Amino acid sequence: MTNATAIFDASVPRPLGAPHVAEAYAPANIALSKYWGKRDTALNLPTNSSLSISLGQLGTHTKVAPADTDHLSFNGRAMGGDATAAAKIWRFVDRFCGVNRPNLLIETTNTVPTAAGLASSASGFAALVSALNDAFAADLPKETQSMLARFGSGSATRSLWPGFVRWNVGERRDGTDSHARPIDANLPDFRIAVVLVDSGPKAQSSSEGMTHTVKTSPLYATWPTQAEADCDAIEALVRDGDFGSVGALAEANALAMHASMLAARPAVCYIKPASLAHLEALWAARRDGLEAYATMDAGPNVKLMFEEKSRDDIIALFPTAQIINPFA
Ligand code: DP6
Repeated sequence: MTNATAIFDASVPRPLGAPHVAEAYAPANIALSKYWGKRDTALNLPTNSSLSISLGQLGTHTKVAPADTDHLSFNGRAMGGDATAAAKIWRFVDRFCGVNRPNLLIETTNTVPTAAGLASSASGFAALVSALNDAFAADLPKETQSMLARFGSGSATRSLWPGFVRWNVGERRDGTDSHARPIDANLPDFRIAVVLVDSGPKAQSSSEGMTHTVKTSPLYATWPTQAEADCDAIEALVRDGDFGSVGALAEANALAMHASMLAARPAVCYIKPASLAHLEALWAARRDGLEAYATMDAGPNVKLMFEEKSRDDIIALFPTAQIINPFA
């Protein structure tokens, strides 16, 4: 039987040499075509391909260095080994290093403000795998790093590259072909605005939310095929530089994902009254000619997609929104 340990052992050179100090950066990302549902929870394999835009300078810096004892810090604060997030990180490090792992210092700093309402597990695991790869001179191809980052968090597969990135669902049972790759895009004016509704921790993690949706939602049956078709179509439109069609399809894809969650029993609902109010404000402005679209993930915040030429209109409509140039 294939398990995570076997995949790491087959992918990372064994035995690993002694580590040296290494630092890596990975951007956060927002999916335009969503990953929602796992076909294999142990290998963290998705039911469908997904496509995202990386957020440029918003992401995670991670330093890995040899140390006398294990030490992990996040934004300058020590993280206890038994906190869930810390345990996930050490489990990933254990898998990467294999047996006889040396003690390590791991320092992680986020340039995504914690209050920005953006997930940091994607950039976190992408930066971690890339720092480990450098620290141990493992020389793994980017695709392999992306495939391994998947074991930390699915969306981390897409954070290994800047710009538009597609995570392919893959066909192999062991998931070795389920990794991301960058897309040649033609949308240099693409921008994101995050309209914050709530920056607190989410009520239900994306992992729990998607597992429950797959198990209980009668609407989920239509999701994998539709999501795959959306992903292919969005990829083609991104290559063509057709912003309006990308935005419209990305918005429809996100709402279909939320519809499948709402039909779960009991419902998974990340949409808050304020989220809906922002969506309605956007739709009204769109009827008046503004070319902007929305997407939402496993939380109440609304992320707008627009082009540089609409920046002033977006700021006028959503004065508190954080504007992100993914290519800055
Ligand atoms: C709604 O990557 O956080 O943001 O693999 O269980 O860690 P795990 O899930 P995660 O899920 C992200 C879900 C999403 C859509 C997306 O980013 O594609």
